[in-house]
Amino acid sequence: MEVKTSLLDNMIGVGDMVLLEPLSEDSFLENLRNRFDHNEIYTYIGSVVISMNPYRSLPIYTPDKVEEYRNRNFYELSPHIYALADEAYRSLRDQDKDQCILITGESGAGKTEASKLVMSYVAAVCGKGQEVNKVKEQLLQSNPVLEAFGNAKTVRNDNSSRFGKYMDIEFDFKGDPLGGVISNYLLEKSRVVKQPRGERNFHIFYQLLSGASDDTLKKLKLDRDFSKYNYLSLDSAAVNGLDDAANFRTVRNAMQIVGFMEDEVQSVLELVAAVLKLGNIEFKPESRCNGTDESRIKDKNDLKEMCELLGIEQSVLERAFSYRTVEAKMEKVSTTLNVAQAYYARDALAKNLYSRLFSWLVTRINESIKAQTKTRHKVMGVLDIYGFEIFEDGDNSFEQFIINYCNEKLQQIFIELTLREEQEEYVREGIEWTNIEYFNNAIICDLIENHQNGILAMLDEECLRPGTVTDETFLDKLNTICAEHQHFESRLSKNSKFLTDHSLPHSCFRIQHYAGKVLYRVEGFVDKNNDLLYRDLSQAMYKATHSLIKQLFPEGNPTKVNLKRPPTAGFQFKASVGTLMKNLQTKNPNYIRCIKPNDKKASHIFTDSLVRHQARYLGLMENVRVRRAGYAFRQAYEPCLERYKMLCKRTWPHWRGPAREGVEVLMADLQVPTEEYSYGRSKIFIRNPRTLFFLEERRRQCLQDLATLIQKIYRGWKCRRQFLLLKKSQIVVAAWYRRYAQQKKYQKIKSATTVVQSYTRGWQARKLLRELKYQKRCEEAVTTISAFWHGTQVRREYRKFFRANAGKKIYDFIIQRIMQKYFLGLKNTMPPMSPIEKNWPARPYLFLDGVHKELRRIFHLWRCKKYRSQFTEEKKAVYEEKLEASEIFKDKKALYPSSVNQPFKGDYLEISKNPKYQKLNSAVDEKVLLADVVNKINRANGKGTARIFLLTKKSVVLADQKTGQVKASVPLPDLASVSVSTQSDGFFALKLKEGSASAIKGDFLLSSEHLIEIITKLHRTGATDADREQLLVDISDEFLVQFKQDKVCVKFIQGAPKNGNSVSCKRKNNRLLEVSVPTTA
Ligand SMILES: Nc1ncnc2c1ncn2[C@@H]1O[C@H](COP(=O)(O)OP(=O)(O)O)[C@@H](O)[C@H]1O
Ligand SMILES: [Mg+2]
Repeated sequence: MEVKTSLLDNMIGVGDMVLLEPLSEDSFLENLRNRFDHNEIYTYIGSVVISMNPYRSLPIYTPDKVEEYRNRNFYELSPHIYALADEAYRSLRDQDKDQCILITGESGAGKTEASKLVMSYVAAVCGKGQEVNKVKEQLLQSNPVLEAFGNAKTVRNDNSSRFGKYMDIEFDFKGDPLGGVISNYLLEKSRVVKQPRGERNFHIFYQLLSGASDDTLKKLKLDRDFSKYNYLSLDSAAVNGLDDAANFRTVRNAMQIVGFMEDEVQSVLELVAAVLKLGNIEFKPESRCNGTDESRIKDKNDLKEMCELLGIEQSVLERAFSYRTVEAKMEKVSTTLNVAQAYYARDALAKNLYSRLFSWLVTRINESIKAQTKTRHKVMGVLDIYGFEIFEDGDNSFEQFIINYCNEKLQQIFIELTLREEQEEYVREGIEWTNIEYFNNAIICDLIENHQNGILAMLDEECLRPGTVTDETFLDKLNTICAEHQHFESRLSKNSKFLTDHSLPHSCFRIQHYAGKVLYRVEGFVDKNNDLLYRDLSQAMYKATHSLIKQLFPEGNPTKVNLKRPPTAGFQFKASVGTLMKNLQTKNPNYIRCIKPNDKKASHIFTDSLVRHQARYLGLMENVRVRRAGYAFRQAYEPCLERYKMLCKRTWPHWRGPAREGVEVLMADLQVPTEEYSYGRSKIFIRNPRTLFFLEERRRQCLQDLATLIQKIYRGWKCRRQFLLLKKSQIVVAAWYRRYAQQKKYQKIKSATTVVQSYTRGWQARKLLRELKYQKRCEEAVTTISAFWHGTQVRREYRKFFRANAGKKIYDFIIQRIMQKYFLGLKNTMPPMSPIEKNWPARPYLFLDGVHKELRRIFHLWRCKKYRSQFTEEKKAVYEEKLEASEIFKDKKALYPSSVNQPFKGDYLEISKNPKYQKLNSAVDEKVLLADVVNKINRANGKGTARIFLLTKKSVVLADQKTGQVKASVPLPDLASVSVSTQSDGFFALKLKEGSASAIKGDFLLSSEHLIEIITKLHRTGATDADREQLLVDISDEFLVQFKQDKVCVKFIQGAPKNGNSVSCKRKNNRLLEVSVPTTA
């Protein structure tokens, strides 16, 4: 949506002075100051823009700003020079009206800047394209060139334009620029030779010297040092913020863009250098014989260099500086020049040279930028002319006079055009016009330019008059002719009003310009108006080989000698101003009135008196008054209705119908007094600013209410949207949740159903199973019952066919068969015949257990019997003995197992065969059953002595081992018992019956390796005798032995033997004999 804005929005003070309330000079200034303080440098008076020079760069010329102002109505945005440029450009493009932009103001007020801003704005908004851009670029780049040659630093402005400039920019029907034409007005050429204190010569001189390369300077025969040149003022050669060297490059670049050829640039620079050289030519007087002084050139070096530069013969120029040729009626008279005249000639040449160069530059630029097509084009003229100038010390001369005349003319045209415009608008709109009073400066213009008695006319008259003409004669003339004029003042004017006015020197006259009184010093008026250059000099210049200089002095051509005086400067200027004014009048004017806030070129300073003065002479107050005389404010119906329609219910928010009727309804509704406004054809005219402010105030209030309303509706809308969104989301959430919940519930029901189903199915199945089982059982029972029943039936039926004992027989038969089978099987599996064989076949039937065992026993007995039956008598005896030993010792004595497999040899000594024992053998009459060597244990110490032990059927004999001599013979009946230990030792005690004959010597304690055999044989021998009781065998580890009278206890202990594995015997005391037996592992 397009935002409708207005000049009236966010206004600081009032943007349009027409709305100032109350209107007075003070309030006017206050408004300007207020706006200036807030960086609002532009203010309107209707369509006129007042521009205050800010003296600093403001951020209001950016491309964004250009866009902002582009295609907007003039009053739509806050005041800006762009608004004016846009308005002018658009009415040129769209309404086919040629435009002119008139920029006026004092020197330093910002005119040149304003003109550049306008041009840059137009360049930015108009068409684009390669060709168009080139044209634009050339138009814009003509500025730096002209500024370098035509601007200078003055006390008022560091970049003061010292010429007037009017530029026509030409556009095609689309609004694209085609080209331009520049007109220049009266360059202040006196500056070339002399500058007021604190000012400089034209920029180009300084730029050339600082910016040109060494090489260029050498070619131009110049020195970088400013002080070497008489024409350059030194006190202010360097200007703050001005970079001459950089600017020189800019100028060179601009010249190139504009289309200057390299050699043209070179020629121009040569001329500039020539001017500097010219300034350095000095003269000295030389007395001549006729008593007059003649001038001579002091140092010819500069002259020589200059002549070289320009290609002039030195002697020609030298002569031109010394003589003056006057031609009159075919006669040539040559007069010498004195020093003063020579200097005058030199300076005149310099000034002419420079000003002609400047004009040539303008022409050359015009050649480049002129429109290429011949089609009809629209024109926008931009006039940047030097401002009204007054030197306070009264040092105003011809230049100021001319400048101020020009400003006077501009003011005139301003008055005419603004008033006419205003008047025309009323007529156009059908509003009644009321005349108002304002100061018309036509009378001043008349004073200056009147053909018969205007000041310029009289000056020309003086200049052309034969006879002695001086500035004084000119003043006299003025005093006579203009004495009665209201705006002319002079000490000697004939009305003698100013006879006593000491502020008015005799050599001066004063004009009351529209912008104030200006005191002019007449000195130089005539000369400057004449603008004479001695013909010798112009001819000398024409003779130059330098093509440009030749071109600049065409009057020097001797073939075209024109005796008629050239038109005076004043005349020329008047004529060109006249053309300019005519030109301007055909165009639609747009005004920019520049104001300088202070004299110090400083930002932020607003000098009240200075601004008041400018506002006064610029006639700004009158401008406002004129504008307000009828109606202060006017606005087309549409924007007016658009802006205020909210003030009336009937027009708000939309008015359907013509805008004018809407406005009428609006005004009626607001009860604005009818005399306060008028309806024009397309605009409403509001008489008083108060009414407008009333409307604005109401609008402001209403806007607040509307803002609240909009806020309310917006908030409502926002809340409702939010609510709807929430509601929508809630439904979505709820839907999802419900779905989820239902899903859960469904799953729960489903699983519950499954459970219930499974239970019921289980229950049903079980029930069915039960039933089926029952049914099956019933069927089985039926079968069983029927089987039993059938059995019974069958048995009952067949009983008559069986014998009563058939069962037993069958049983017996079966048993028999089993037994048969058992025995036959046993026969086949009979174990071997060895009595020690343990195996016996497994029992096949439990009921045969008893039989089986019995058979085993019987078989064993039979087997043993069989075995025994093979034995011989001797072998039988041996086994009997072994058996007896077993009965005696088995499991009683540890020695026994080792004896089992030892054959009982009996006679170990082979007593009957060994001759050694012949005697002994013979001593024993009985058959020797056993003969062996034993140890007889000494009763006293337990040590053994070897003895031969003999056993016969009747006795036991102990004999010496060596001799065979019988030591003791005990008849077997005397033996009471034999004691042995339980252990593996060979000790045995032969205990004798008490009271027997053998018992006197006591019992025998012996030890033998064949203990088991000895004891067994002893025991057997006794047993065979029927009348004798059995010999007792006592097996114990402690037994008593009778030694003579004493009974000694023999005790067997187990212990680790000290000496090997043998048994040791020790007498412990007289009652104890201890035998220690090695432990059987
Ligand atoms: N709009 C502006 N913004 C910033 N500075 C400005 C503006 N107008 C003028 N100036 C300053 O004031 C100086 C004088 O302006 P200029 O246009 O040359 O004056 P005039 O042409 O009226 O003599 C400029 O050099 C510049 O420094
Ligand atoms: Mg200027």
